[in-house]
Amino acid sequence: MTAQLIDGNALSRQLRADVSARVTALKTQGITPGLAVILVGENPASQVYVRNKVKACEDTGMHSVLERWPATMTEAELLARVEALNADATIHGILVQLPLPAHIDAQKVIEAISPAKDVDGFHIASAGALMTGMPGFWPCTPYGCMKMLESIGYDLKGKHAVVIGRSNIVGKPMALMLLQKNATVTICHSATKDLKAMTLQADVIVAAVGKRNVLTADMVKPGAVVIDVGMNRNDEGKLCGDVDFEGVKEVAGYITPVPGGVGPMTITMLMVNTLESAERMK
Ligand code: GUN
Repeated sequence: MTAQLIDGNALSRQLRADVSARVTALKTQGITPGLAVILVGENPASQVYVRNKVKACEDTGMHSVLERWPATMTEAELLARVEALNADATIHGILVQLPLPAHIDAQKVIEAISPAKDVDGFHIASAGALMTGMPGFWPCTPYGCMKMLESIGYDLKGKHAVVIGRSNIVGKPMALMLLQKNATVTICHSATKDLKAMTLQADVIVAAVGKRNVLTADMVKPGAVVIDVGMNRNDEGKLCGDVDFEGVKEVAGYITPVPGGVGPMTITMLMVNTLESAERMK
């Protein structure tokens, strides 16, 4: 069997067109959704990510502010910037790009962001809202994965979903979102004894470890849906995911590619969250 591809670029285009239309509608009411992105230091990957986020704002008609600060910025200075943006009525979403330099406590900075502007969904108030099913911002990457499952009309009720990885940004919120859609959810991680025994039972597998070839064809039940959150480099320096794509695509029913899968969806859901923040503050 050859799996069907879930195309994150195509789905992103569709969703961003809807965002653009809603931005246009808000503008007629005198509101332009605004995102502030703070980058501290010179991390090359972070520089690419923030550039893509700002460009996505421009493409969808949103206002954006990119603040670049040197790695020597103090925690107090960063907290002061967050406070100023919390009070800025033209800003509906605040994103502090991670990782931060070691001398800054990232969690402290995240908790300083107003939950009403926490479009990354990393604040404990956002995490608590997700856990209890209350309204709040969902972290963009797992939210994008849910949209990909929705795009193929996949009904998660009673299905077994296996999430590989337990980070606060992807694995844990992913599991909660799948649970909210009535899947039976297993979270696997570095201490899991027999990963293959778990994944072979799965109707849906989300790989979010950050390591190549975590999931190979022999670990996948025929017809399963495989979502690859990984962003790694292979020996030739080419972008690749956590899934052995060439092998797994012969077994899975659906699979997301890397690049062109979850990656573009993450930024798309950031646009959705920022737009919805502006709609809520209306
Ligand atoms: N660093 C890597 N991914 C992300 C993300 O989604 N948000 C933030 N703020 N930093 C990141």
